[in-house]
Amino acid sequence: MLRNVLVGLLIIISCGSCHWKSKTAATQNEDTTVVKDAHTLSNADSVDMQHLDLDIVVDMDRKQIAGAATWTINNRKAATQLILDTYDLSIDSVSVDGKPASFVLDKQVKYLGSALHIPIRTSTKSVKVSYKTGKNARALQWLDPQQTHDKKHPFLFTQSESIYARSWIPCADGPGIRFTYNAHVKVPKGLMALMSALNPQELSTTDTYYFTMDSPIPAYLMALAVGDISFKSIDERTGVYAEPGMIEKCRYEFEDVGRMVNTAEQLYGHYAWGRYDVIVLPPGFPIGGMENPRLTFCTPTIIAGDRSLVSLIAHELAHSWSGNLVTNATWDDFWLNEGFTDYFERRIMEQMLGKGYSDMLWELGYQDLVAEVNNLGATSKDTWLKLDLKGRDPDAGLTDIPYEKGSHFLKLIENNVGRDQFDRFLAKYFESHAFKTITTEAFLAYMDTTLLKDADDVKKELNIKAWVYGPGIPANCPRVDQDRFKFVDSERTKFLHGTPAAQLTTVDWTTHEWLQFLRKMPTAITAAQLKLLDDAFMFRTTGNSEIADLWFIMSVRAGYTTPYPAMEQFLSNVGRRKFLEPLYGEMMKTPQGTEMAKRLYAKYRGNYHPLAQESLDKLILKKG
Ligand code: BES
Ligand code: ZN
Repeated sequence: MLRNVLVGLLIIISCGSCHWKSKTAATQNEDTTVVKDAHTLSNADSVDMQHLDLDIVVDMDRKQIAGAATWTINNRKAATQLILDTYDLSIDSVSVDGKPASFVLDKQVKYLGSALHIPIRTSTKSVKVSYKTGKNARALQWLDPQQTHDKKHPFLFTQSESIYARSWIPCADGPGIRFTYNAHVKVPKGLMALMSALNPQELSTTDTYYFTMDSPIPAYLMALAVGDISFKSIDERTGVYAEPGMIEKCRYEFEDVGRMVNTAEQLYGHYAWGRYDVIVLPPGFPIGGMENPRLTFCTPTIIAGDRSLVSLIAHELAHSWSGNLVTNATWDDFWLNEGFTDYFERRIMEQMLGKGYSDMLWELGYQDLVAEVNNLGATSKDTWLKLDLKGRDPDAGLTDIPYEKGSHFLKLIENNVGRDQFDRFLAKYFESHAFKTITTEAFLAYMDTTLLKDADDVKKELNIKAWVYGPGIPANCPRVDQDRFKFVDSERTKFLHGTPAAQLTTVDWTTHEWLQFLRKMPTAITAAQLKLLDDAFMFRTTGNSEIADLWFIMSVRAGYTTPYPAMEQFLSNVGRRKFLEPLYGEMMKTPQGTEMAKRLYAKYRGNYHPLAQESLDKLILKKG
């Protein structure tokens, strides 16, 4: 019933650069009833947030962004106020349709920040908020020159997912709320600014940059990077940005990115965002990659020198469909973003490097899933695909479950309906839901009336309920062929039975074979055995961050101290939480290790992102 009412309210706006029509903010869920997002305090369900004009100055000395956000709105339900999300922002003034207006900034709510109330009329078209960011802006990482690769200039980057956009822009900050934007960004002399938008490739002579994003996106995809940045083209629609001292290495690493975009398009249809560029950030970037539209942000820890970690780019690129084009309606539906993207990432890698390669990604993912279920507990509700994050930090949902249980669920569907049919279904899904948001329930209903129509046998086989609304790993979870790993396993067994490490056959092993080799070593492996491996394979000096991190963890566990100087070097500049948390976590397991963790953390905490600091404070300082 409600569905029909809602469809009646839909407002269609045309989308400048793309061939799809899109819909404004709160009305996008034509397939569902109104979705309540527990992580926004805004009233975008009454007021459409159509467009943002952002006009800001980036002050590297003060570590502050100051300026104005002007929202073009449509007060669809005649609300008497506009409510926006803010986090640690100081609000200087507000104007409504060009006239000064009053405002009220509420007290801070845990995790969510402070609601900003602005009186409006039914006819109000524009609301301007002048503001400054605070010291606790969770989205912002300000780097001093020595924290960058080239060590010459300061750097700023943002990380807005999941609910941190509100700490640098007053906005309606929910994944179900979309808007277009323009931005004017003034930066210190000689620095470049880039956004999730149409980007410059050269320095501006006026130190001011102008951006447009004319396809509607949610706030978590708002992004900004400012620093000494240069650009190199890959092909006519792809390229890479990095600090000048890194640019050649990055260009080499990303040789295949142009081909990757073509491959993705062949699988699931037109790439909707124009250019696809990647920026390699300084090492403090807290995550592996972030799918900011038109400009993926990524960690330098994937620049291994041998192109062996580029599947991370396939992942972020895949989000151009799953996530950026069709977006999870709330963070409870996060698997619709990440599970689809992991599945899609592996399909891209299979197309590019073959099934043997993608099977390794699937198997390592399966191992991560098993470990995560053990970690969360086999009956934990946090192991359901549909999450329940109300009243909690949405980061609590950032586990391997949405990624791995999600992608394995899709793989199961593929196996049951056949690849061709599943691919056609997915292409249609992306096309018909482009620039919309979707809940888990709406997705299941859509699948029920399309792919699974008249397919009761398949439905029985899938046991969808167990996957989506049940804990742990369902019994029908698919596994892939283990051919390449079986060989690795046999080499490991030989070593454990006394074959000298140098006599093992390891030629042409990729990162993934090495990970399998090391992950499955017995936990009780001794320092003496690690030394034999280290001397043969020089893990302690590897430039491969995935292998290095695992090696340091194993060394700490066994009390093998030779790699400790290399480990300290790693901890001094790598800010990726995925690496830091397990490594510090391993140290925290013994009194001696705890001392080491505390000493190292005290020394290097300042180099980490506020979000990494938050989780490591809990782990190491037992704070919060
Ligand atoms: N969108 C995520 C990153 C994210 C999720 C940030 C939720 C904040 C909250 C991104 O696409 C991602 O999944 N990155 C992974 C890499 C990927 C290859 C699994 C990462 O950063 O490790
Ligand atoms: Zn992702």
